[in-house]
Amino acid sequence: MTDAPEKTFTLTNDQTGESVKLPIVEGTYGPHCIDIRTLHKATGHFTLDPSFTATGSCKSRITYIDGDEGILLHRGYNIKELAAESSYLETCYLLLYGDLPKEQELKDFEDIITQHTMVHEQIKAVYQGFRRDAHPMAIMCGVVGTMAAFYHDSLDIWDPEQRRISAHRLIAKIPTLAAMAMKYSKGQPYVYPKNDLSFAANFLHMCFSVPAEEYIPTPALVRAMDRILILHADHEQNASTSTVRLAGSSQANPMACIASGITSLWGPSHGGANQAVLEMLDEIGHKDNIPEFLERAKDKSDPFKLMGFGHRVYKNFDPRAAVMKESCDEVLEELGINDPQLELAMELERIALNDPYFIDRKLFPNVDFYSGIILKAMGFPVEMFTVLFAVSRTAGWISQWKEMMEEPTLKIGRPRQLYTGPAERPYVPMSKRK
Ligand code: ACO
Repeated sequence: MTDAPEKTFTLTNDQTGESVKLPIVEGTYGPHCIDIRTLHKATGHFTLDPSFTATGSCKSRITYIDGDEGILLHRGYNIKELAAESSYLETCYLLLYGDLPKEQELKDFEDIITQHTMVHEQIKAVYQGFRRDAHPMAIMCGVVGTMAAFYHDSLDIWDPEQRRISAHRLIAKIPTLAAMAMKYSKGQPYVYPKNDLSFAANFLHMCFSVPAEEYIPTPALVRAMDRILILHADHEQNASTSTVRLAGSSQANPMACIASGITSLWGPSHGGANQAVLEMLDEIGHKDNIPEFLERAKDKSDPFKLMGFGHRVYKNFDPRAAVMKESCDEVLEELGINDPQLELAMELERIALNDPYFIDRKLFPNVDFYSGIILKAMGFPVEMFTVLFAVSRTAGWISQWKEMMEEPTLKIGRPRQLYTGPAERPYVPMSKRK
């Protein structure tokens, strides 16, 4: 039996006529990749792809996205099924360990996460260093990195057991840290986790209850919270996940890596979009102003963009947005909310979806368009929206970091560049500078 011939891609230099054969690698789904690792050695050239629009940074078995078809799979399971059937902690287990847990495995995992939800008491002192009006994402960047100073016993990145413990600690404690950031900004006392509550219910409890009054969320709200967490849990090699991987490639500890992911997530082009959606709605103010803002979104000389619209990968629809819209309707009905800002959002969606500019460019509402609305209805301040995203995405970040650490060869990530600055020139003494 002969092996199938290796598939290759031949690249020819039009100037010199020299050519090089590069291997084509195939995954389970998706476009094949040209493996260019030998390109520089063979040709002396690098490739240039500044925003990684055509570059795969790694092989991964965790998440698959088909942007044209609007498909998102975690370990082969469709996000729609996970959102309907699974729980956030089961999805975390799936992302981390590769398969759906059996009954006892899920119970053990839930117990472990529940037992790790408290944070070191001294971490409270870290919060005191922040201004009360600090953005909770600024606090999260700091306190998550600070975790490395408190949990020394799980920082040996070469020990699989310590990696496992760190992963569990991050998934369990980041919601507590997030709720503390919210309480700190409100000037309210921190609320300790309650082990008899589910993960989502406990998070709502830590965010909304006060010593004077117990907060008991309805099952519909708990379910909506859990769904929000599932829908944001992982999204393959986006900016923040790539940041986590790049930070981890230098052998930095997992707490530091996740803190770096949080910083990347903060930007309005990424996780900050759900906050930006609400701020944009505030700016639009009234239905009558929608046409004016749509014109601004189309004008290339105006930096204004329709926040919550468009996606680097999804060019048809965002499958998470469809589930989120469903949850959004349920929550609004459950809470009996009649909010003019929400009506404005729905009208904006309707008008934009019928506008040729948005149709031609395949710009659809993304998950953040609806998550902002739903979180507002649940009572979260807008500054907390991106924090909630970080709580959820911790599962994806740490799963991707774990996968990278389990590779037999870990090499530091080091992109190259095309230098376009001045050519070498002699130093000019101050007296001769013009
Ligand atoms: N409003 C107006 N025009 C837009 C928008 C928008 N929200 N998004 C893209 N466009 C336009 C671009 O100007 C471009 O127009 P052109 O072809 O005439 O030059 C065209 O649509 C294609 O867009 P790209 O720039 O190629 O899209 P890219 O993949 O670079 O950006 C991004 C994707 C960053 C998400 C962008 O759509 C955007 O900024 N959206 C608003 C912010 C947002 O909602 N981010 C959340 C992303 S989802 C997440 O992180 C979970």
